[in-house]
Amino acid sequence: MMLVLGIESSCDETAAAVVADGESIRSSVVASQILTHEKYGGVVPELASREHLRSIEPVVDEACRQAEVTLDQVDAIAVTEGPGLIGSLLVGLVYGKALALALNKPLVGVNHLEGHIHAVLLENKMDRAAGKPLAEARLPAVTLVVSGGHTSLFHVTPSATSSPRFDYTQLGRTRDDAAGEAFDKVAKLLALGYPGGPVIDKLSHFGDSHAVDFGHIKMRGTPRDFSFSGLKTAVLYRVRGTDLAREAEKRRAWRKTVEHPSLDDLRGHCSQETIDLVASFQHAVVQDLVERTFAAAEDARVDNIFVSGGVACNSLLRQRFAERSRGFQVFFPSPALSTDNAAMIAAAGYYKLLAGERAGISLTAHASFPLGAKSQE
Ligand code: KG4
Ligand code: ZN
Repeated sequence: MMLVLGIESSCDETAAAVVADGESIRSSVVASQILTHEKYGGVVPELASREHLRSIEPVVDEACRQAEVTLDQVDAIAVTEGPGLIGSLLVGLVYGKALALALNKPLVGVNHLEGHIHAVLLENKMDRAAGKPLAEARLPAVTLVVSGGHTSLFHVTPSATSSPRFDYTQLGRTRDDAAGEAFDKVAKLLALGYPGGPVIDKLSHFGDSHAVDFGHIKMRGTPRDFSFSGLKTAVLYRVRGTDLAREAEKRRAWRKTVEHPSLDDLRGHCSQETIDLVASFQHAVVQDLVERTFAAAEDARVDNIFVSGGVACNSLLRQRFAERSRGFQVFFPSPALSTDNAAMIAAAGYYKLLAGERAGISLTAHASFPLGAKSQE
């Protein structure tokens, strides 16, 4: 058995996990920084790095404690090397490197997006091992990784050359904002709170998703490339200078007086027009994600689709994928494994270790790190 300690710090979650043989989560600890960033309506990179510095040691300790292992009993260390915020990445990466050196354990660097893809495979293996009557998540697959930092489509196949590794081909990506970023910016514009995705998701249940037709918003780029900035600007134009903007300013002032309003409280401070607007926005984003993903799967002639990343928590997205799934097997991780975590990093790292991959002392972080490209190591 190989126990891998995973470390993830690419954005605003400090995470550590212990995973056995890439298929059994012994612990997965995530320290969220939402409370630090919420008053700014987005992640403040400098604050994120400082929070990682504060959290990294207790989070790794807690992951070992929950897994009932000492650091000495861990067989290897897998750490996110990119993409992400450079200052944030460096905290986890340097910590992981120092542990590997001090303990004389093998180390591998993992691409964060590869981690999100492995979250699907990892959880599917665990659920099936626990006897849940689920189909097997199989490769080749088309994967949509959709979060606050990324919106990308990959074709994932078992590697032809060095089994059991994987080959990734990027089929499409966002030309501008990531989908989660668009959710966060619309929520910020309307003073609905941070992060925007979960609150828009919940409010939208009370709205009419056809109230505003965003169907005319042109998505630029190739058929596979996403673009959400036009949609975000269309929302801005609908709000600017109108009663919706005045209502948002009142809400902003009110939100400063209550720390964490309940959904009912927030709804009480939103007009039906605002709720209809966010429901229509969500509908447009989801429609675009679903259509491009199925089109990519059809083109690639694969019937397995994986959807991962923070936006994969979205209830309408899950519903629409389920409705369209005829002829396909669609897999989503549970919400805890959809958002950033270190179990997915440990699982992806396990297969690299099996294939003999090792990072040296010169391993470094990359803010931009396309999946499939060779590491500089
Ligand atoms: O994967 P993640 O934790 O971090 C990144 O790698 O970005 O994703 C966070 C993003 C945020 O933009 C958040 O608004 C979005 O995921 N998100 C959602 C939902 N839950 C989280 N977006 C839409 N609907 C949700 N339910
Ligand atoms: Zn992520």
